[in-house]
Parts: sequence; structure tokens; C-alpha cells
Amino acid sequence: MLERHLCSHTNVGLGEMMNNKTDWDSLTFSLTPTDTMYLTETKQDDAWMPGDLRPYGNMSISPAAGVLNYGQGLFEGMKAYRTANGRVVFFRPEENARRMQRGADRLRMPPVPESIFIDAVEQVVAANLSWVPPMGKGALYVRPLLMGSGPVLGVAPAPSYTFLVYVTPVGPYFKGGVSAIDLLISEEYHRAAPGGSGGVKAIGNYAPGMMPSKKAKSAGFSEVIYLDAETHTCIEEVGAANFFCLKDGVLYTPELTGTILPGITRDSIIKLARHNGMEVVETKVTAEFAMNADEAFCCGTAAVISPIGSITKGESKAVFGNGTPGSVTTSLYNQITGIQNETIDDIFGWLHEVPTN
Ligand code: PLP
Ligand code: COI
Repeated sequence: MLERHLCSHTNVGLGEMMNNKTDWDSLTFSLTPTDTMYLTETKQDDAWMPGDLRPYGNMSISPAAGVLNYGQGLFEGMKAYRTANGRVVFFRPEENARRMQRGADRLRMPPVPESIFIDAVEQVVAANLSWVPPMGKGALYVRPLLMGSGPVLGVAPAPSYTFLVYVTPVGPYFKGGVSAIDLLISEEYHRAAPGGSGGVKAIGNYAPGMMPSKKAKSAGFSEVIYLDAETHTCIEEVGAANFFCLKDGVLYTPELTGTILPGITRDSIIKLARHNGMEVVETKVTAEFAMNADEAFCCGTAAVISPIGSITKGESKAVFGNGTPGSVTTSLYNQITGIQNETIDDIFGWLHEVPTN
């Protein structure tokens, strides 16, 4: 078990920097325009150079931009947290930088060096410090984007690229905060197929999920669970979050086969649970197995750890516990958020302080 420690000091300077325009208690996962964004550009075969900060706002782009015409774009999602020790920190930001590099290879874009990525996200958060919510009220969501911004008519890589980062304060991803969510298994639609782009954060992976997700929401569900496109039997992901279930004390999660996004929260949960002495199995998780599990949850930067109250597939509905979060789910949630808030020791060295002066 991880040791709890009490914070011995708070950094009043950073606390004072919170703006008083925002109602921190009503944050949802939605866009609030902030002050400053970061932008840098490069040509296809040139090296990336550090960019600059500028006021948050619209930008102009060619109608023939690769990203607009052929979806040559990637995004990342990270959070900056205000902690019990008065610091503002990222959670494993190097992993986001590396995932964006793998995505850039897949979409034939010039990968942004990790040093430029980290410098960019640090600068944007430091420039928008007053938008980082108080501890426990949410986080500053950081959205790096990499796109083919130069004009191209044939289906080919764009001649030039833009890397930009903007931020916005956010609260819970799912309506209803951290209460258990009801999910629907999609029997008609898939998110990704073998050999496709499901394993990277390509912008084009997300629009096809909007219609199935909207339909599920109209029917009273929070989100859709996607099955694999080959056998239609194994769980892949929950919309934009990874899936876990617990059966007889063992934690199961779909293995990374190239069609699932390798979530940083997923990886952290695996490491935490194993550190706690729990067996964790990365394998094929059939819908049938999951629907007979003892607990289930989904996880991601936006979703954190969201307990699943029920899973519906056709006429069958599996309810977990009595619809309230299970004890293992709750414990993992407390540990991961405790590390992020610095109310629990960061024994894995996952936090990365944002330099603020
Ligand atoms: N799966 C998909 C499709 C996602 O978009 C996300 C969000 O980034 C995740 C899983 C969770 O990944 P992470 O924990 O790195 O945020
Ligand atoms: C994230 O968890 O950061 C995501 O990217 C989810 C999302 C809002 C698409």
C-alpha cells in the first residue's frame, strides 16, 4: 500500500493566482477559452524549432490544408493539477509526447521532439496559471494538436505542419460526476480495425464514434463500449477510455493489439495494482466475461477512473454491485487521484512539476 503523507506547506503564491471569474464548483468537461496558447510550425523535412506563446484565439489555415481535407492530424489530452503541496504538476507528460511521436510516424507527419513538446505544455500552463482549478475541483486540461496545415490536393502528406497547445479548465467527463455509469455495447459499429489507426490518437478516429455515442446517450446510456471488428466478441474500449474489469480478485484489461489506444491511465493502473500485490491480466476480454465480472470501470485522462454501474448488450443487462462503485475501483481511484494531488507519495516518480517562474 502507498503511504499517505500530510502536506506540510502550501504555496500561497500559486493559490493567489486563481482567477475569480470561474465558478470552480460547476466545472464540466467543456471548453472555457483561456488566455494564451502556443504555436510552432515546420516544413515537411525541416527540424521543429521552439514556438511562441500568443493570445488564445482563431487562426487562419489554407482551405487545402492536409488536416481539413484528409484528416492528417493528431491530438493529445493531458491535465495539470494543483496539488496539496501548492505545486502545479503534470502526470507522466513524457508518455503523451512519445505517444504523439508514434502517431506522427503512423500519419506520416514530422514527430515533435519530446523536449519541444514538454517545453510547450509547460509554457502554456505557466502562462494560464490562474485557470488551474483549486485542488479537488478539477484540472487544467491541456490539448496538444499536431496537424498537416500546409495545402495539398492529392492524397499525400502536407508540405508543412503546425504544433499547437491550448488549455481549458475542466471538471468530470461523464455527466453525474464520479457516480457509476451505464454503458451500451455497440453491436453495429466499431471504432478501429486491425492495421488501421486505432492505436494512435488520430483525430479521424473520433468523428465516426459520435453518431453511435449520441444514439446511446438518447437511449439513457453514458457511452458505448466497442467490440473488436474481427470476431465482434471482445471488448476494446469505452468511447475515449480504456476498459478494466475485476473477477475473483484478478484485474483484467483488453490487451494492446494495435486497435486499442495505449492509455497512460491504463498503464498507470496496471502498475499501481501490481504494486498493491494484485494480479493483472492483459488479454482478450469477451463481453460475456466482462458481463459476469464483479466490478468494472473505464479510465483515461478525461474519464479518470469512472466506475461502471451496468453494461447492456441487446436484451441482456449486467449490473455491477448495486450500481455503486466497487471497493477495488474506489481504492484505485483514491490512489491515482491521491498521487495526482500529492496527498499520497509519488513512489513511481510520475509527477512533473510545471516551472512557474
Ligand atoms: N482510449 C481512447 C480512444 C482515448 O481517446 C483515450 C484518451 O486519451 C484513452 C483511451 C485513455 O488514454 P489516456 O489514459 O492516456 O488518457
Ligand atoms: C482524454 O482522456 O484526454 C481524451 O482524449 C478523451 C477525449 C475527450 C477525447
